[in-house]
Amino acid sequence: MKSLIDILDLTTDELDELIACAEDIIANPDKYAEACRGKKLATLFFEPSTRTRMSFEAAMYELGGNVISVTGAASSSAAKGESVADTAKTVSCYTDIIAIRHPKEGAALVTANNASVPVINAGDGGHCHPTQTLADLLTIWREKGRFTNLTIGVCGDLKFGRTVHSLINAMSRYEGNNFVLISPEELKVPSYVKKDVLQQKGIPYEQTTDLMAVMPKLDILYMTRVQRERFFNEEDYLRLKDSYILTTDKLKAAKPDLAVMHPLPRVNEISVAVDDDPRACYFKQVLNGKYMRMALILKLLREAGKIK
Ligand code: CP
Repeated sequence: MKSLIDILDLTTDELDELIACAEDIIANPDKYAEACRGKKLATLFFEPSTRTRMSFEAAMYELGGNVISVTGAASSSAAKGESVADTAKTVSCYTDIIAIRHPKEGAALVTANNASVPVINAGDGGHCHPTQTLADLLTIWREKGRFTNLTIGVCGDLKFGRTVHSLINAMSRYEGNNFVLISPEELKVPSYVKKDVLQQKGIPYEQTTDLMAVMPKLDILYMTRVQRERFFNEEDYLRLKDSYILTTDKLKAAKPDLAVMHPLPRVNEISVAVDDDPRACYFKQVLNGKYMRMALILKLLREAGKIK
């Protein structure tokens, strides 16, 4: 039973296949309107979400399927102490595929190991968020036309920002890319990402606290929110939360074809005025996420023999 827990569960050929499918869905939505008729997606969200949960649900409805859901641990038997493993076994009795978001790293893997249907990791703690990366990849593909030879700046909370960890993993598989890791000292990329991904693969990278010093060379600037929910104390969060605020003035130093990305939600990291800059891609990422989740649901249900 194939599940998607980490972006590396997909080969680069499979990523190409998902992007081609998403492009076909965009061009020919009617062709897919009945593809999942009679099938159910369970969205189990034990952490807050707007984009991921709603885009999964919109994706399944646009494929002609149905959705059952848990929103918040308080509304499920997790509140009574039920384990993630038992929840997975139980929900498998009701659905054809599961998308789970959970505050604990590894919870999606435990779900996949205990479910009898495909499982999609919709974000596990500070670990990874592979379907956000699918949205990011379609956005990069549509904006830049390639996955190679890019200077990719990631900025903000690189310690707890799970979307950054998945993006670095994904883009490290393509030729000629290099990373500029921009964060306060306290929020640097975890050493396991640097050692096991960047250093092991010999990917060039630099670490800096100074966004403006590196702005002119970036092809992509991936801004992130400081993850308040993962801090141990509020004082540190308040001190670090506004470390980087992208403004229209700061963008004057950037390339004319920079792609400004953000997984959203934003708090203060990008000034609202930047939304009108043609280089702002973050609301395109939101829409691209729905198409890539449609392509992923189709792929996993086909591989499980549940649809043709
Ligand atoms: N990008 C993202 O995961 O957004 P949500 O938390 O709203 O799902």
